[in-house]
Amino acid sequence: MIRDVIGMHDAGTGERNGNAGNAEMPDDRSEQQSDPTAASEPSRRAFVKTAGLLGVASAMSPLDLIAEPAPSTEPGEPANRNGEIRVTMRVNTKREQVLIDPRTTLLDCLRETLKLTGTKKGCDHGQCGACTVHVNGRRVNSCLSLAVMHEGDEITTIEGLGTPAALHKVQSSFLACDAYQCGYCTSGQIMSAVALLTEPCGPADDDVRELMSGNICRCGAYPNIVAAIQQVRR
Ligand code: FES
Ligand code: FES
Repeated sequence: MIRDVIGMHDAGTGERNGNAGNAEMPDDRSEQQSDPTAASEPSRRAFVKTAGLLGVASAMSPLDLIAEPAPSTEPGEPANRNGEIRVTMRVNTKREQVLIDPRTTLLDCLRETLKLTGTKKGCDHGQCGACTVHVNGRRVNSCLSLAVMHEGDEITTIEGLGTPAALHKVQSSFLACDAYQCGYCTSGQIMSAVALLTEPCGPADDDVRELMSGNICRCGAYPNIVAAIQQVRR
């Protein structure tokens, strides 16, 4: 018999576990005596109890077994159980502190968290330039940069460039040269053009085209965009 082979004793003797003082033993014995299949009954009970306990344990999230860490106030450290991180940066000369998912791009942080919607989302893949902003004075595709990487950085968006009453000279030039049609790419074009003014760039239109090649205009306003930039440079 296979039970002999694996070392199980005959059921019904009550001597199997030597647990005569256990309060459950009388029930176990009566079941064993009336049921011809009772040989496996005590072990089945034990199994069900154990499985129940294991089931409870496995249904618990690993997070339930770990004490929740105290919220951190350190930059770059998770600030809460959702894993959000506190980031402080200066946006358009104003100090901003945000609590964000570490996967948030700078573009989404600006648009969704800070409600600065002048910066546009075009491709969201670094290919169109619509999301161009300045980080510490240099142009950056904000869709390719995580917001958590900008702790302490100085960010400038189109909203921080000029005001309706006092436009930046590049903004005025775009207006004068009619350098846009639908306008969707325009904030990115202007942010790139402003950065270009401080970059090494030859005098020719082709030099401007080369340095503006990361900014796509689906309306094809390129001749007017180049003219607007050259008007400021001359
Ligand atoms: S949206 Fe960032 S490059 Fe297109
Ligand atoms: S003005 Fe329409 S995409 Fe450039």
